[in-house]
Amino acid sequence: MIQEVPLNIIGTLYQKLGESTIRQLVDRFYDIMDSDPVAHDIRVLHPKSLDSSRDKLFSFLIGRFGGPPLYMEKYGHPMLRARHAPFPIGDRERDQWLMCMDRAIAEVIIDRNLAEPMQAFFKTVADAMRNKPAG
Ligand code: HEM
Repeated sequence: MIQEVPLNIIGTLYQKLGESTIRQLVDRFYDIMDSDPVAHDIRVLHPKSLDSSRDKLFSFLIGRFGGPPLYMEKYGHPMLRARHAPFPIGDRERDQWLMCMDRAIAEVIIDRNLAEPMQAFFKTVADAMRNKPAG
C-alpha cells in the first residue's frame, strides 16, 4: 500500500510558520549535527564552518515552503540530487540526517499537524539523496 503523505501542506509552511521559525529549525538542526557524536559521519562531510550550509538550507526551505525563491536567486536551481552527488550518502548518513532533523522539529515545531507532514517531507527527500549502497 502506498503511504499517503500530505505533502500539499508543505507549500503553505512559510505562511503558517513564518521566517523566524524556519530559521530556528535550521539553526537547531545544524547545532545538533555539530554537537551530537551520533551525527559524526555526516558532520565530517560538511565544511568546518556551517555558516554557508545554514544559509543554503534556510534559503531552500523558504522557497520550498511557499515563500520567496531565495535559494534560486542566490545559488540557482536546487538540483538537490546532483548537488549531493559528491558526498557518499547511504542509509547510515540518511538516518543521521533525519535524526538531527526529527529532533529539531520536535523542539521547534509545536503544532503536530505541521510537524508530521514536515517529517514525512524530509524523509522523502533524504531517501532520494542516497547515492551509495548501505554500509
Ligand atoms: C540524506 C542525508 C543528507 C546528507 C548526508 C547531506 C549532506 C549535505 C552536504 C555535505 C552538503 C554540502 C554542505 C554545504 O554546501 O555547505 C549539503 C548541501 C545541501 N543539502 Fe544536504 N544532505 C542530506 C539531505 C538533505 C535533505 C533531506 C535536504 C533538504 C530537504 C538537503 C538540503 C541541502 C541543501 C539545500 C544544500 C545546499 C546545496 C548547495 O547549494 O550546494 N540535504 N548536504
